[in-house]
Amino acid sequence: MTKQIVKVGSFFSGIGAPEKALSLLKKEKVIKDYEVMFFSEIDEKAVNSYCLLHNIDKKLNLGDITKIKGIDLPYCDLWIGGFPCQDISTAGVMRGFEAESNTRSSLGWEMIRLLKEVKQKPNYVVFENVTNIASKKFKPTLDLFKKDLINLGYTLYDSILDATDFGIPQMRKRYFLVAILDSNKTFNFPLPIKNNVIFKDYSEDNVDEKYYLSSNEYDEFENKRIFYKKTNKNTKYIIDMDKYKTGGLCGNVPNCKFYQSARIYSENGVVPTITASNTADNWKLVVRG
Ligand SMILES: C[S@@+](CC[C@H](N)C(=O)[O-])C[C@H]1O[C@@H](n2cnc3c(N)ncnc32)[C@H](O)[C@@H]1O
Repeated sequence: MTKQIVKVGSFFSGIGAPEKALSLLKKEKVIKDYEVMFFSEIDEKAVNSYCLLHNIDKKLNLGDITKIKGIDLPYCDLWIGGFPCQDISTAGVMRGFEAESNTRSSLGWEMIRLLKEVKQKPNYVVFENVTNIASKKFKPTLDLFKKDLINLGYTLYDSILDATDFGIPQMRKRYFLVAILDSNKTFNFPLPIKNNVIFKDYSEDNVDEKYYLSSNEYDEFENKRIFYKKTNKNTKYIIDMDKYKTGGLCGNVPNCKFYQSARIYSENGVVPTITASNTADNWKLVVRG
């Protein structure tokens, strides 16, 4: 266990998933404790959630990263930054994240600027983004990003981890880049943990009817059940009950415009990535047999 309290600087803080990880490390006595020295987030709702979830004072929010001056930052042991992925993700038009390209994803370079400006660099920096950042298309930019970190004295370790390998019933693969200032320290990414977690383990037992897409009534055909959308009886949800029991892809929505929205997954297994925004192309979940 670390003897000191880990001082953390959080960028693109969102709702603070890495902070949650730090609180779990504290619970497991891997670290003594951690202290958020500052965070940087521009979305008001995210700031409210972040402060409530992690019991952090809003005054610690430095706001827009482009306005922060490195010289003003207090010393931290660890910086964390899951920078915007919209221009890298395959779900978007992939404008990229080249330095000074003004795309939202290029904001990641602001952390490099700050590393060059601070009085004392953090010993550890962890970046996180979608897996497409490591694709052939974005490798040249990622290599430049890494080169800057190496020139700043960091040793780098990177890997793609999948949430399902760590007890989360959601197929969420993410790219992680860990930068360590002390070259004598080595780092190993955690190995997958064998687990049988399913979505049902996480869902609530009592959910208001208004959140359900279909009513409870259905027609039966061979091993399939056909449910109907509450607001439009022409939309059908066809569920294969055998597949529902075993988990995974278990049904479809016929005549659906979008590829993903036609897919229905069972609560008895792991599910695809739960999207942050309610796009038209969302897959669906069966939560009642
Ligand atoms: C991919 S999300 C990060 C999610 C975060 N890792 C979490 O655990 O919730 C990127 C975040 O960057 C924030 N952001 C975008 N532009 C920013 C800027 N100029 N300065 C600070 N934060 C910004 C967004 O509001 C968003 O919450």
